[in-house]
Amino acid sequence: MRDTVTKNWANLAELPTRTLDELFADPERVASYATTLDLLGGTIRFDWSKTHLDADLVAHFTRLAESCGFATRRQALFSGEKVNITEGRSVEHTAQRGVGNEESVDLAGVLHARMRGLVEAIHGGLLGEVKHLIHIGIGGSALGPALAVDALTRDGAMVDVHVVSNIDGCALEAAFAACDPATTMAAIASKTFTTIETMTNAASALAWLTASGVTDPYGRTIALTASPDAALEWGVDETRVLPFPESVGGRYSLWSSIGFPVALALGWDEFAAFLDGAAAMDRHFLETEGFDNLPLRAAFGDQYYTRLRGCQTRAVFAYDERLALFPSYLQQLEMESNGKRVTLDGQPVSGPTAPITWGGVGTDGQHAVFQLLHQGTVLVPVDFIASIQPGDALDPAHHRILLSNCFAQGAALMAGKTSDDPARAYPGDRPSATILCDELNAGTLGALIAFHEHRTFANGVLMEINSFDQFGVELGKQIANQIDTGGVSFDPSTEALLAAAGIGSQ
Ligand code: F6P
Repeated sequence: MRDTVTKNWANLAELPTRTLDELFADPERVASYATTLDLLGGTIRFDWSKTHLDADLVAHFTRLAESCGFATRRQALFSGEKVNITEGRSVEHTAQRGVGNEESVDLAGVLHARMRGLVEAIHGGLLGEVKHLIHIGIGGSALGPALAVDALTRDGAMVDVHVVSNIDGCALEAAFAACDPATTMAAIASKTFTTIETMTNAASALAWLTASGVTDPYGRTIALTASPDAALEWGVDETRVLPFPESVGGRYSLWSSIGFPVALALGWDEFAAFLDGAAAMDRHFLETEGFDNLPLRAAFGDQYYTRLRGCQTRAVFAYDERLALFPSYLQQLEMESNGKRVTLDGQPVSGPTAPITWGGVGTDGQHAVFQLLHQGTVLVPVDFIASIQPGDALDPAHHRILLSNCFAQGAALMAGKTSDDPARAYPGDRPSATILCDELNAGTLGALIAFHEHRTFANGVLMEINSFDQFGVELGKQIANQIDTGGVSFDPSTEALLAAAGIGSQ
C-alpha cells in the first residue's frame, strides 16, 4: 500500500500546472467545481472553482485517496473502531449528532437527555435565578462553545455566557466584572478534569462566589467532563455532573456536554438544530463518493497547495462578524489534528503536513493583511465564508458592501492586474474557495463546523497520519510543571528568564 501511495504522489507531482485563467476557459468550470448542499438550516454553496483543481488532478487525487484506504478509514471512524491508534481509542464525535455506532448513538442520546434536563431546570428557575454562566475550559473545551455562543446569540441569549480559558487572571477578572455573583453559575469544562489552567480558574471562581456571599458556592457549579469521578471529588454534586464519553476528543467535543453553554444560551431546540445540521454533513460525508464528497474535495485542494505547491499557510476569512472566532476554532482543529511528523505506522511523513491556519474577518483583513495575499511572494490559498442573509438589521447597504467586497477579493486574487509600474502590478492566479450560506443559523453553523472536521480527517487520511492524538502539547506542560515544582535546572537562557521573573527554585 505504501508503495502505491508513494507512486500516486509522484504521479501527482508530475502533472502540469495550469493557470486559473486556462481553467476558466472551460464554460462548465463553475458548474463542475461549485456545489450546493441543501441542509436542514438552509443551502450552503461550496465553490472550489477558483482553485487549481482540474480533471486530471481530481482523477489522481481520487486514486490517491483509494490507495490510502479512504473509504475503509472513513467507515472505521463512523463505526467506532479504535482509529486513534496511538491512544487506543475510538473517535465518536459524530455519534453525539446521531450518526455512527448504534450503541454510542444511544449513549449520546441518554447523556443529552440528562444535559437537557439540567438546561431546562435552569431555564425553569429550579436552581434559583440564573442570569450568567461563566464557562471555564481551555482548547477544545472552550473554543467551540465560544464560537457557537458568539455566532448564534447576537440577538440575545437566554443566559449570558462568558467563556474563560486563559490562566492569566485578567481573563477571569473580566468575567467577574460582567457578572452578578448572586445570579451566576460556573461550568467547569474539562475532558480530563486535570488541566491546570481550568482547575486554577475553577478554584478562583469558587473563591469569588464564596467571597461574594453566595451561601452554597459548590451548588453553583456544573461539571462538563469525561472524568466524572474527578469532578465529584472536586466537589460538584452528582446531579450537576454532565459526562461525555472518552471517545469524544477535546477539539471535537462541542457536540457533547461541552456544548452545555450553547444549549443554555440558545435553548434546547436550537442546540438540537445545531446537532442536526452537523449530522446532515456527517451523512453527506459518509454516503458520498469521490470528488462529490465536499470535505474530501476540499482536502484535495488543501493537499494540492501544501504538498505540490509548497504553501506553508492557508487563510480563512469570514465575511461575517458572527464568525469572528471561526479562524481560532479552526486553528486548533486543523493544527492540533494534523500538525504531525510521523505516519500511522510511525515512519517519518513523506511531505509537509498541516499548513499554518490563520485568518480573520472581512472586510477588516483587507485593510491590514491582504496586501501580502495580493502582492506578497508567498502563495496563500484563501477560504472566504459568507452568508447571503445579513446578521444585522441596519441599512442593507452594510451587507451588500460586505458581500461585494468578499466576492471582489476572490475575483481580484484570481484575475490580478498588469501595469507598467511593477509596484502596481498584481500577479493574479491566486486561489480561493468560497463557502456561501443562505443564512447563518444553528443548523448551517453545525454543518459548517462538521464540514471542517471531516475535511481535517480527510487530509489526515491522504497524509497517512493519525489526526486524533496531540502528543506535541505534552513536553511544554511537563517543563512548566517542573518549573513549578522546582529542583530541575534548564538551559542558561531559561534559567536567566526565571531568575529575572523571580520564579523557580534556583
Ligand atoms: O493541551 C491540549 C489539550 O489536551 C487539548 O487537546 C484539549 O482540548 C485541551 O488541552 C483541554 O483539555 P481538557 O478538556 O482535558 O481540559
